[in-house]
Order: sequence, then C-alpha cells, then structure tokens
Amino acid sequence: MSRQSFTSCTPSIRLPGTLSFPSRTFSACARLRIGSPAWPKQPAAATISDNQIATLAAKPLHSLTLADLVRHGNPPLSTEALFSSANFTLSLLPIRLAHRIQALRNLPFIVVSNPHIARIYGNYVHSLSTLLPYQERRITTLEDESRFTEVMADLVQTHSNTIPGLARGFMECRKYISPAEVTKFLDEHLRTRIGTRLIAEQHIALHLSSHPHSPGGVSPTSNVSSTHVGVIDTALRPAEIIRHCETFVSEICELKYGVRPTVIINGQPDAQLAQVPTHLEYIITELLKNAFRATVEHGQEREPIEVTIAASPSTTGSPPVTAESIKPPQSPESAGSPLTSDESIPCVTIRIRDRGGGISPDILPNIWAYSFTTFGEDEAMDVSNGNLDALNTISGAGGDSSSLAGLGYGLPLGRAYAEHFGGGITIQSMWGWGTDVYLNLRGLGKNILVTD
Ligand SMILES: Nc1ncnc2c1ncn2[C@@H]1O[C@H](COP(=O)(O)OP(=O)(O)OP(=O)(O)O)[C@@H](O)[C@H]1O
Ligand SMILES: [Mg+2]
Repeated sequence: MSRQSFTSCTPSIRLPGTLSFPSRTFSACARLRIGSPAWPKQPAAATISDNQIATLAAKPLHSLTLADLVRHGNPPLSTEALFSSANFTLSLLPIRLAHRIQALRNLPFIVVSNPHIARIYGNYVHSLSTLLPYQERRITTLEDESRFTEVMADLVQTHSNTIPGLARGFMECRKYISPAEVTKFLDEHLRTRIGTRLIAEQHIALHLSSHPHSPGGVSPTSNVSSTHVGVIDTALRPAEIIRHCETFVSEICELKYGVRPTVIINGQPDAQLAQVPTHLEYIITELLKNAFRATVEHGQEREPIEVTIAASPSTTGSPPVTAESIKPPQSPESAGSPLTSDESIPCVTIRIRDRGGGISPDILPNIWAYSFTTFGEDEAMDVSNGNLDALNTISGAGGDSSSLAGLGYGLPLGRAYAEHFGGGITIQSMWGWGTDVYLNLRGLGKNILVTD
C-alpha cells in the first residue's frame, strides 16, 4: 500500500546566523556549541564565528572526481605526497562543512529545533571547529599530518550514523516541512556527505597504507600488490560485488518470506573498472532488495532475477588502470592542477531485471522521493516508536541493513551514490510484468596515466 510520509508545509520561522537557540531545546547538544557570540555556553578552546562560516560557505564546492582521489599516487606515499594529500583534503573539507551548516540553518527553525536534526547540526559545527586550526597553515610535518589524520578519523566517526537521525528528525517534523522541501534538502545534504566522507576516508586510508614515514625521506616500500588506492579499487569487478550482495540479500529475504529467488549473472562478468567498493555494495544491495521483494510479493520466486553486465566498447582493448600505473604529482602544487579531458572513460552498465510485476503508474512518479515507500504499513516506519529496524537499513553504505525495505531511501540514496562519479540509475517498469533497473558506472579515464 502506498504511503506518503509528509504532509503540507507550514514553516514560517527561519534560523538566521545570529539567532540563539533556546537552551531548553538545545541542551542535548550544548557541548557542541562553538565560539560565536550567538551561541551560548561555548567551550573555551573552540572558536568559530558566524563570519567564518559565512565566508567559507560563500566559496564554491569543488566537485570531487575519482581522479582527485588517486592523484597523490599509489601507496605507500612519499612524505611529500602524504602532505599533499593532507593539504588537498584540508582545502576541501571546511568549505563542505560550512555549506552544510548554512543549509541546516536555512531550514525552518522548528525543524532545526528537533533534537535529531539539532544533533546533526552540532556535529557539523564540532567538525568544522576541529578543522579550522589547521586551515591557517599548511601541513608540513609528520606530527601535524598524524594529528590531522586523527581529526579525520573523528570526523568520520562523528558523522557515521547521521542518516537514521536525519530520517527520524524529518519524520517527526513532517507537519512543518513539505515532502518536496525535505527531498531537496536531503538530496543535497546526502550527496555532499558522500563526498565529504570519501575525502576524509581517502586520506585516512592513504595515511595508514603509507606509514611509517621517516621525516624528509621517501616512505619505505611495502607490499603493494593490491589494486587499491586508498578506498578506491582500481580494478573492481562488479560481478564479485553482486555475488557478495546477493548472499546477504538472499538471507534477509528468506528470513522475511521463507523463500529466496535465484540470481543469474550474464553479459560480461569479467568487466572491471575503478570504483569505491563500499558505494557499489550499497547500491547493489538496495537494488537487489527491491528486486527480491517485488519478485516474492508478486508470487514469482521461481523466476530468477537476471543481472546483465556490459562494459562500454571504449574499454575494450585498453589496459585497465592499475594502482601501479597511477603516477603521483611532481609537486604538491601540481596536485591542484586540472587533469586533461579524457574521451575514453570506462563505463559499465548493470541491468537488474526482475519479474516482480513492475511499478504501477500512480507509484512511479514518487519512487525517487526520500521516504516514499510502499512497504506494508504495519512494518514501515512508525513515527511514535521510531522503528529502529527500518532506520538501521540506512545507517551506512556498507549494506549492513537488516530488513528488505521500509524507509524509502534505497532508490534516491542509491542514485545519489551512482551519480556521485558521473554514473546514474534509470528504471523501466513493465506494469504487470516486471522491472528493469539500469545502473551505469563510470571509472577512471586513461588520462590518469599521464600526469607528467
Ligand atoms: N524492482 C521493483 N519492483 C517493484 N517496485 C519497486 C521496485 N523497486 C522499487 N520499487 C518501488 O519503489 C518504492 C521505493 O523504493 P525504495 O528502494 O526507494 O524504498 P523501499 O524499498 O520502500 O525502502 P528502503 O529501500 O529504504 O528499505 C518501493 O517501496 C516500491 O514500491
Ligand atoms: Mg528499497
């Protein structure tokens, strides 16, 4: 049964940068209030003013590419390349955090006053305040770099479980903000979050795989037979991720329905490209969950779900980009120079075809809205008790979800992950028969091989 989770909008009060939150409402996150005279009970050590936030938020967001993330070379990095990675990370993150703080402040006051949203706001202010001391200087010592990596780890940890909070907060505020406004905010917020998290995780991964460093010297060689450059697998095989996700989804499907449809993979199962494995795991898990649920609920569990993998012709005959083939920039400065354009970016398209009856025309326009779900009302999100099980389904990008559906975040968030590096998701529904979902992924072009 269809279920629209938000009602019409009645917001009138907005949160200007200089307004104090009533401490009664914000007691839960008082420890995170930082610096500005507008924010009472600030910890003495942390300072961040409205002006600083506004200045950073006025700067444009750098749109992250896969090439950005591998530009420092394959690990172990030299000390110089590691500093370059840290400074590049530092050049991006404060602006990203300030943009989100500004966007949260622009929500209706009553929405930001919700304890779940307020906590997320506090997390962003906290993270920005921990980064600002580094912004005034470049990272040029191993000691600074190590401390900075700890700050990155804190940032990742602080924001690791924020999606359930956001979902719950907006559920609770559904009387005060329209579904369209929520989707607009969440889409922008979650897309920026994907990149922010990735930037921080990439530096942490490069740091860990490059240690120990001797000051001024080149890092010691280590066993780098892997195709990984930090969190990116430069030779990722989608077929392997699909099999891995299938196992997980089959198990939760059998637990819920007592049956599990089979999955067949055909086309070009050997196709490979550079991607972030955790992103692909998230997307595939969500698409398989939808396909499994539809297939079983339509009584077609004997019909296999067909997954077809196709690599774009431009990849045929060209050598895959390997970790060894990625050259580091010649100087920290050259890390900031734009890469040449590339006509031969490898693309892989994955079609997931199910016989689950398709999507009815009245439901189809809503499927990309955050929080739209047709999952049974008895099992879907109950605002009063918060349905933790459903909230856990979106708690991370690693596919650690424990139920087959429930929140209506699978498709829009999956599409946000796919589009992050230029891919996408489109859906073709044959109402009464089944659904084809096309997931398009873009890897790294050959230009990454030519950096000098
Ligand atoms: N393969 C499919 N076949 C039929 N209907 C589908 C299919 N994929 C998605 N849908 C419809 O689109 C709706 C939204 O999908 P989405 O994945 O965003 O949310 P959900 O599956 O309901 O919950 P969540 O993914 O957050 O656990 C679903 O509730 C379902 O009605
Ligand atoms: Mg889903």
